[in-house]
Amino acid sequence: MGGDRFERVAAAVAGVPFMSPDQGRIVGDHVRRTAARDVLELGTAHGVGAAYLAAGLEDPAAGRVTTVDFAAAVYEPGPEAVLERAGVRDRVEIVRAYSSYTWWLKEQVAARSDAAGNVTPGYDFVYLDGAKHFTIDGLAVVLVEKLLRPGGWLLMDDLDWRYADDPGRDATDGIVHRSLSEAELREPHLRAVFDLIVAQHESFTELRVQDEYWGWARKAPGEPRRYSLETSRPLDALVLGAARKAKRRVRARVRAVRAARAVRAR
Ligand SMILES: C[S@@+](CC[C@H](N)C(=O)[O-])C[C@H]1O[C@@H](n2cnc3c(N)ncnc32)[C@H](O)[C@@H]1O
Repeated sequence: MGGDRFERVAAAVAGVPFMSPDQGRIVGDHVRRTAARDVLELGTAHGVGAAYLAAGLEDPAAGRVTTVDFAAAVYEPGPEAVLERAGVRDRVEIVRAYSSYTWWLKEQVAARSDAAGNVTPGYDFVYLDGAKHFTIDGLAVVLVEKLLRPGGWLLMDDLDWRYADDPGRDATDGIVHRSLSEAELREPHLRAVFDLIVAQHESFTELRVQDEYWGWARKAPGEPRRYSLETSRPLDALVLGAARKAKRRVRARVRAVRAARAVRAR
């Protein structure tokens, strides 16, 4: 990403969640390197991710970032102010609509479909960083695939995030009214969306998991399927992460066995 633009964004968003400068540089560089013109972010919050994405647009006159959140989303500072401070407000369209970006995506697909069911795609890069819920994001990626141009990329944030890790969070932000079961609390929803929907979709043939939390998928129908793991973490951090995961799996297994025994004892 152009050094000046990146530095300006990093300085303007310092201390504002949710994207780190390192991640910001990666997504901004991706936009620039792939010459993406139409970029979509699902999950806006304060607008930090949108600012980095917009900084990566090579030709702001010809490119645009659209970022979508709930109709009722309120953040302080708000994305308008953050993007203004970062000097990229004019490159970003902020959408707050409906109860979920899935309905907004459905509207986009409908508007771009002909009577025979052909969809004209309109995005080169989609960054999904929202609900992290299987039901919501499982649908979102199916609709996103229709809207991505061939050769375009989907990036999913936080593959291993689990509802069990954040007990204070209202599961699904109140969208789905049934509460989550133990199994749904413990399993990372986005990992399931990536492995079982995206990576098995016939359009997404180039898959890459970066540092265990970012899932990249390129829409390249007809190309041989490829799956790679990439890390920029030191080896000890990787070993520690793997050990934590193994511990979680063992605990889950012990709980399941105990539950099964309790049922048999009844
Ligand atoms: C982690 S924050 C996004 C951070 C932002 N992408 C960044 O990099 O700065 C997640 C956002 O997703 C939004 N969100 C969660 N589920 C959503 C849904 N179903 N529809 C619309 N927005 C949603 C939340 O309101 C929140 O603003």
